[in-house]
Amino acid sequence: MEKAVKMLKPSSILCVFVLIFSAISVDRAVAEGVTPDEAKQLRDEVREMFYHAFDGYMEHAFPLDELRPLTCTGEDTLGGYALTLIDSLDTLALFGDRERFAASVEWIGKNLHFDINKTVSVFETTIRILGGLLSAHLIASDYATGMGIPSYDNQLLHLAEDLAHRLLPAFDTPTGIPFGSVNLLHGVDENESKITSTAGGGTLTLEFGILSILTNNPVFQQVTKNAVRGIWARRSKLNLVGAHINVFTGEWTQKDAGIGTSIDSFYEYLLKAYLLFGDEEYLFIFQEAYKAAMHYLYNDPWYVEVNMNSAVIVWPLFNSLQAFWPGLQVLAGDIDPAIRTHAAFFSVWKKYGFTPEGFNLATLSVQHGQKSYPLRPELMESTYWLYKATRDTRYLDAGREMVASLQYGARCPCGYCHISDVVSHKQEDHMESFFLAETVKYLWLLFDLAAGSDNLVENGPYKYIFSTEGHLLPATPQISLVNEHCSYFGAFCKNDDIRKRSRISDISVDPQEANNTLHESWVPNRFPSDPLYRNFISVSGVIKGLCPGLTHGQKFGVSYLAATDTDNEDELTKQQESNVAQSYSLLVTNIANDSQPNDNKNSDDAQEPNQGNSE
Ligand SMILES: *[C@@H]1O[C@H](CO)[C@@H](O)[C@H](O)[C@H]1NC(C)=O
Ligand SMILES: *[C@@H]1O[C@H](CO)[C@@H](O)[C@H](O)[C@H]1NC(C)=O
Ligand SMILES: *[C@@H]1O[C@H](CO)[C@@H](O)[C@H](O)[C@H]1NC(C)=O
Ligand SMILES: *[C@@H]1O[C@H](CO)[C@@H](O)[C@H](O)[C@H]1NC(C)=O
Repeated sequence: MEKAVKMLKPSSILCVFVLIFSAISVDRAVAEGVTPDEAKQLRDEVREMFYHAFDGYMEHAFPLDELRPLTCTGEDTLGGYALTLIDSLDTLALFGDRERFAASVEWIGKNLHFDINKTVSVFETTIRILGGLLSAHLIASDYATGMGIPSYDNQLLHLAEDLAHRLLPAFDTPTGIPFGSVNLLHGVDENESKITSTAGGGTLTLEFGILSILTNNPVFQQVTKNAVRGIWARRSKLNLVGAHINVFTGEWTQKDAGIGTSIDSFYEYLLKAYLLFGDEEYLFIFQEAYKAAMHYLYNDPWYVEVNMNSAVIVWPLFNSLQAFWPGLQVLAGDIDPAIRTHAAFFSVWKKYGFTPEGFNLATLSVQHGQKSYPLRPELMESTYWLYKATRDTRYLDAGREMVASLQYGARCPCGYCHISDVVSHKQEDHMESFFLAETVKYLWLLFDLAAGSDNLVENGPYKYIFSTEGHLLPATPQISLVNEHCSYFGAFCKNDDIRKRSRISDISVDPQEANNTLHESWVPNRFPSDPLYRNFISVSGVIKGLCPGLTHGQKFGVSYLAATDTDNEDELTKQQESNVAQSYSLLVTNIANDSQPNDNKNSDDAQEPNQGNSE
């Protein structure tokens, strides 16, 4: 990126500024608002998309892992155990498809086994298989969900327990951070790599934690918490974590800190493990980690990758996995930056019709070698959460565009195809299981919410936490231990006068009604170079909790806390005005004098960031 910095010219500052913001304001101008009728149609269209792909899988690929939707064949991609079916189970239940849900659960209970000589990714197996089995188990075994199965006898739970036992040998390392892969029959292979990603080691707590509760065996919860502690203990002085670590020595072998590739869901599970289990240790780690991310990685509205020790920018790059972050911020109650970041990420989607794996913020073009769109769900996920929190119809418009892109660009004979190049929209003969577990699930939830939701997630007997694979993990009294964790209001900011300086703008309003309360008190722009902004981070990200008496929105952080101290706001505003140019130069130091799409300038000399295993 040295070159990019040298080529900096004032004209480029303007270009970038205009480009980013014109995309956003055009958005607003065009937003006509999806009507409830249209939302219903879109919801049904998304449901049809699911069945096109699911039926294609069942007909042409099952029981292999994944569908090849162009040639209408199948392939084993993970362990050879009907991956796509397992990943689809709770989507079937969410759609109320009792027949197919029950038939699938029955088939899996009868036919699946894990005593196979395959070496598999601990991370992918946990989030896709273990998470898929557990979420389906918790639905099938519980009549309160409306999808209980009479003949069900905990078969999926037993499978999940057996699988988790087979993954346990991976955790036997000096640091407690697990190996990336393990053989389901023999344990860790003799020559297994000792390098794993932060996401790979730190995204196991929800699934293993639930398994511990359901089986009364604490070992699963213990090893995964240990892994998180092992990673966090090795954070830099800046409270940043790197991307890859040696599980024996604890040395970072890849020191790029970021919120996307290789790290993403580490942050996600810190907050979600707290929300689901009420374990405050995760909350405290999340607070520190989140603060550091907002301080060093956030270049409003983008996020960059920096060296974890020096905070020097290494990658001014949007990567598509980062798109989950605004959704996480909604859960953390930090909605202002989420809105701006989502708008920026969506402007990339609009530019190409899909988000490329990498988008270079210096050249404002697709990053060399990262031009594919493998049907990823992260932008849909954030769109759903932001709609849920704000009820702003711009998110429905965004969802409508995503559906249109998928229908016109990715639909292929037996399912949906990966896009191998977002510029040419060339299709590839592959369909990741997460398309059915997440991508269509979040789109369907978005439109169902707008159409007047009647589904398990919005109106079910429990609140649900979504795993990083989009699986529904219920905060049942058994799992979330709600009554024991009521004391943390204000814990995020550790500031006693938080209540005086803030007000909960929709304290008595369930998000379903909260359509008009969120906009009034926005302070539209805050910049990270502003010292007041840093203070604001510590007061805006108040995480609301699982205490009885709170509304759904408050329980899961999807209600909005606005700063109302007016003196403070005036100062903020003044400060912002004088800081605009300065703070944009933060972003702009990485901007080349080239705002036209350009595939090779300034990128060939750059090493490709490692595509980690975080899905
Ligand atoms: C497991 O697979 C490996 C390599 O595929 C093979 O060398 C080994 O003999 C197999 N072990 C068993 C018990 O089947
Ligand atoms: C592991 O590596 C050693 C040394 O390179 C080699 O001798 C051995 O055959 C390898 N084992 C396996 C199972 O590949
Ligand atoms: C939005 O809020 C207004 C005022 O509270 C209410 O009358 C209206 O029904 C709400 N609309 C929706 C879609 O919830
Ligand atoms: C900057 O871009 C302009 C317009 O694309 C071009 O004419 C000019 O030569 C560029 N300057 C440098 C230093 O590359």
